[in-house]
Amino acid sequence: MSRNPMVVRTVPALRRTLDGLRARKARVALVPTMGALHDGHLSLVRLARKRAEKVVVSIFVNPTQFAPTEDFGSYPRTWKADVEKLAAERVELIWHPDVKTMYPEGFATRIAPEGPAVAGLEDRFRPHFFGGVATVVGKLFAQVRPDVAIFGEKDFQQLRVVTQMARDLDLGVKVIGSRTVRERDGLAMSSRNVYLSAEERRVAPTLYKAMKRGAAGIRSGEDIAAALAAGEETIRNAGFALDYLEARHAETLAPVGSMKDGPVRMLVAARLGTTRLIDNIAV
Ligand code: PAF
Repeated sequence: MSRNPMVVRTVPALRRTLDGLRARKARVALVPTMGALHDGHLSLVRLARKRAEKVVVSIFVNPTQFAPTEDFGSYPRTWKADVEKLAAERVELIWHPDVKTMYPEGFATRIAPEGPAVAGLEDRFRPHFFGGVATVVGKLFAQVRPDVAIFGEKDFQQLRVVTQMARDLDLGVKVIGSRTVRERDGLAMSSRNVYLSAEERRVAPTLYKAMKRGAAGIRSGEDIAAALAAGEETIRNAGFALDYLEARHAETLAPVGSMKDGPVRMLVAARLGTTRLIDNIAV
């Protein structure tokens, strides 16, 4: 039988609970989430369990990473189901602060990440996003002081931004990326997939298929620009409004001209109706 995780909502209670968990020098892993948990999140939790004795999952829908035009208000919130899923994974602690705890009256400090955060990918379309993510993740790291933190490769630029921030600010946490979990037809799992209509859901795996075909072409010697142009056409013909399909250096996210500039990562963002999907694969 699974035991419900402790749920903590204030910083003093978090500190006390963590002191208890850290007794006998147990290592602590943090999995930051915004809830609406799916199998992709649970794979992060399972990796956390392999890397540390105690697992903390934060659930906080962070307003500062949403633009006013985005879906903060309607972002899926599935608290009861989330707790049940985390109980089944034997998670020790859920850190579930409210907005006032994270951003109290008079809050006036923000982390402004550069490097991978200004690579011209997500930041081009969501200029507010990485400042909001870096600030909230910086706070989560300061609050939980984890030994390791697990982030999904699905948000690849975010993974690079957080890794760079932890290194640059000597935060003493090892950031670990976890492989993207996919549906059987290749669609990357995402909390926002629930927004897709039945027809959009049918079309959505085109993103992954186009990237896979492009990556295979590049690996067998096709010119990167030509492979990307073919991928763009496939994605647009399937009915997406394409934001970008790019091949970048997997560490720095700098543009690459050929496999010699690698390791290479292919990244995509596109909209199907009102739903924006992102994905990426290694080339
Ligand atoms: O990837 C997410 O769910 C969020 O961006 C994160 C890392 C939890 C920060 O709010």
